[in-house]
Amino acid sequence: MTAYLAAHRAPDRVTDTVLRNSLRVVLHSGHESTARLLGNALPACLDSPGSLDALAGGVTDTALHELVRCAGPVQAEARGCVEDTEVNGNPVRRGEVVTVLIAAADRDPRAFTDPDALRLDRHPNPHLAFGRGPHACLGAPLALLVTRLALGALARHHRRPRPVGEPVFRRNATLRGLDRLDLAWG
Ligand code: HEM
Repeated sequence: MTAYLAAHRAPDRVTDTVLRNSLRVVLHSGHESTARLLGNALPACLDSPGSLDALAGGVTDTALHELVRCAGPVQAEARGCVEDTEVNGNPVRRGEVVTVLIAAADRDPRAFTDPDALRLDRHPNPHLAFGRGPHACLGAPLALLVTRLALGALARHHRRPRPVGEPVFRRNATLRGLDRLDLAWG
């Protein structure tokens, strides 16, 4: 991707600062978000009996999307408002920025039956964990592929992880992830 950019970018249209910042975003999102999803997904599976057995038989797209809904790392995102409008009866003016809590939406009981439960066969699953619209996550297919491979390998391993104590989550308002997860194997 970086080689393509180096070969094709038009320096008069994309400044060095914009290019560097965009690459920083891709690197950061590409690493942090996926790593945190993997970390969050494991205690979610360990908390839900039978999940790893189900994943050992194959990590389906349906299962992956449920893991992202339930254990997704991105808690919030922001949108700049382009015209005066209203959200849930609240006026929002052009130019204002709205922060939406997508992780809360993904646990909304009006949208999901038994929202706090991990149901690997949940379908349909209209979650917002990768955002929506033209700025939806660029790396979603890569994140899902990595998760499929990593969790699948873990689930098929002949030794199963067992939690020792409670997972410790990092205090962070926007990106949910583990600080510590103690496991025993066998
Ligand atoms: C579990 C993993 C990931 C999650 C949950 C996630 C989630 C998100 C969310 C919620 C957004 C904002 C979408 C919006 O504003 O509507 C986003 C944007 C973005 N993500 Fe991800 N992401 C993940 C992994 C990745 C990976 C692996 C990459 C790159 C290799 C990546 C690159 C990006 C980029 C570049 C954007 C900005 C897109 C734009 O503004 O047009 N993400 N992601």
